[in-house]
Amino acid sequence: MDPQFWHEKWQMQQIGFHQPQVNPFLIRFWPELGMAANSKIFVPLCGKSLDMCYLAEQGHQVQGCELSQTAIEQFFEENQLPFQVESKHQHQFFSADQIELIQGDIFTIDLSETADIRGFYDRAALIAWPETMRQQYATTLAKLIPANVSGLLITLDYPQDTLKGPPFAVSQEWIEQYLAPYFEVTLLCCEDVLAENPRFVNKQVPWLNEAAYRLTRKV
Ligand SMILES: C[S@@+](CC[C@H](N)C(=O)[O-])C[C@H]1O[C@@H](n2cnc3c(N)ncnc32)[C@H](O)[C@@H]1O
Repeated sequence: MDPQFWHEKWQMQQIGFHQPQVNPFLIRFWPELGMAANSKIFVPLCGKSLDMCYLAEQGHQVQGCELSQTAIEQFFEENQLPFQVESKHQHQFFSADQIELIQGDIFTIDLSETADIRGFYDRAALIAWPETMRQQYATTLAKLIPANVSGLLITLDYPQDTLKGPPFAVSQEWIEQYLAPYFEVTLLCCEDVLAENPRFVNKQVPWLNEAAYRLTRKV
């Protein structure tokens, strides 16, 4: 998935991944992370997710990263948040009260930007990448997350040969192989969500599991 793919999706507003409500797993499992209210939370590949509003409502400072300027502008406009824009290196920083969105490629973010985060939230970021890029993303995420910082990861898994991604299937075995070298991994839950996903039902995907993991960056 090169940047052009995503720019076109946003331009044509083909954003089936965007949820019109806060992710239920976020509401269910975020409190278990015990994050202090004013912690800074990193949201990679954030889109215009309302999950960032939920995190801000918990008292957190939210720092998102998103390739598409359209997504970022829509986020602030749709949530009626006045914002300011500042350019730094090759990125633009859009900021409102508790929310700062870095517009640009996650692979080129300076590590100093996330040095003070206290948590992170990945929904539809890891599963947005095909296999080879997913491994690069895992390495980049590990670099951006400081030691001892925890986060919530939400994934989907299904038989990959039944549907062309994104979203791409990510199994528990994949997480064990590619994320466990960097993170302590705890599976919080795994549920069958096929019935709530008509796109998968229509394509006759036989099963679809959504899982939530707690990840803590190893020292
Ligand atoms: C599947 S969407 C998920 C968005 C959001 N997490 C959500 O739950 O709605 C993936 C997002 O990642 C963005 N993206 C893709 N490649 C990126 C990159 N290299 N750096 C930053 N953002 C990227 C896309 O523009 C898209 O908005």
